[in-house]
Amino acid sequence: MQENNRGQWSSSFGFLMASIGSAIGLGNLWGFPYKMGSSGGFAFLVIYLVLVLLVGIPLMTAEFALGRKTGTGAGAYAKLSKKYRPIGWMANFVPFVILSFYAVLAGMTLRYCLGFLVQIVGIDGFSGQGSGFFGYLLYDSSSMVIFLALALIITMVIVMGGVQGGIEKFSKTVMPALGVILIVIIIFVATQDGAVEGYKFMFKPDLSLFSDPESFFGVLKVAAGQMFFSLSLAMGINITFGSYLTKDRDIQKNALIVPFSDTLFAVLAGMMIMPACAAFGVDFGAGPGLLFASMQNVFLDGMGGLIGNVMGFLFYFLVFIAAITSAIALLEVCASSIVDRQIEKGKNPNRKKISLILAVCLFVVGLPAALDALGSGGALLKAPFELLGLEIGGPGYAMWNDCWLDFYDMLTEGVLMPLGALLMSLLLGWKLPNLVKEECEEGGRPFKFAGYFKIAFRIVIPVIMLIVLYTQIQAFFNI
Ligand code: TRP
Repeated sequence: MQENNRGQWSSSFGFLMASIGSAIGLGNLWGFPYKMGSSGGFAFLVIYLVLVLLVGIPLMTAEFALGRKTGTGAGAYAKLSKKYRPIGWMANFVPFVILSFYAVLAGMTLRYCLGFLVQIVGIDGFSGQGSGFFGYLLYDSSSMVIFLALALIITMVIVMGGVQGGIEKFSKTVMPALGVILIVIIIFVATQDGAVEGYKFMFKPDLSLFSDPESFFGVLKVAAGQMFFSLSLAMGINITFGSYLTKDRDIQKNALIVPFSDTLFAVLAGMMIMPACAAFGVDFGAGPGLLFASMQNVFLDGMGGLIGNVMGFLFYFLVFIAAITSAIALLEVCASSIVDRQIEKGKNPNRKKISLILAVCLFVVGLPAALDALGSGGALLKAPFELLGLEIGGPGYAMWNDCWLDFYDMLTEGVLMPLGALLMSLLLGWKLPNLVKEECEEGGRPFKFAGYFKIAFRIVIPVIMLIVLYTQIQAFFNI
């Protein structure tokens, strides 16, 4: 069925690298450390790992299976039955919204990368701001817009090349290189005075949080959102990837390797950033700027000189590429659904035109996130709370209105992804209980963990999702 003109992975390795490349991105390097930093360190780590095992792995298996079975992207749901079509719409809407703010962040990493590059030849790349550059950049509207546009253009050009040409080639060398540079920086940071507090924050067992339900649920919801985001779950991407997978490939094995690698990179990023914060006096809970603030300190103040600039350049370059491989996959989901839909309607889709239109729309939707200075107030574009006439921290101020990026982020990873996961697991647990099993057994492979998967889709995942959704909606509206 899928031997059509949509392309296929030239090798198992290519498939793995592309899915790992799409999974590993800003979620791991930017999101995981800052969320762990603001939400309880060790407790966050433990809850996160448990969620990956109990929820992430079964869902990823299911998505690969669903994609291969139906041979389409997020439109897979509609293929199962017309009435499931809305789940597919959601799976397209979510990556679109994510990409709009993802490109803003990717653009910022590109800005840092170029900053270090010019410093190598002796030009000040950070506008005289040194390690305080993050706060400055947020208000530098023209840079924010230019780099947002650049990130989108680069992504679009690659997607226009099609599946094999674009994504596969790109991912193969970048991920190993990123792993190596993370380890080099981890070792450097470990030698800095005070770094040990960072390890304690991450690894020293502190279970006090588990005795207080309110903080427990608070951390659970952040960790769950982060897991969805980082594993790119509940938004069609793994379905799309699965659709390019041939029948002789082992779904279950791939659905273990991808989450494992993704989690490994997140933990490594944590082991780089937390000790760096401790050593250079950055608050663990500094929020979304944590990656930028802590790492710039390491390169400018810790390493310093030429080495610092070269390492800074390499690091931000690799983070940027990691972000781009994810951005490619995000755009690919949206583009391929439109392509599939048009084929379905008997039209002859123009992939390039579709990618271009999407990129333009993404730019427009991403602009507010680039221009409101993350809600610090008084930026070129007002943050949602300012538009509503609210005060920072005052009555009515809530997560959904504190800044545009948080609004997009909360809407997607906070609400729509858990909702998508809830619907999908109910569907697979109760309505189509044999789909995943049969698809995994193709090629005569035994379906492992059949017992757990059954209760996972029927009960465990739905229950966890309901708790997450409830807590999330409460936080979203501050009720
Ligand atoms: N998982 C990616 C990251 O950690 C982000 C992401 C979310 C993504 N959804 C996606 C990437 C869909 C590709 C496709 O950065």
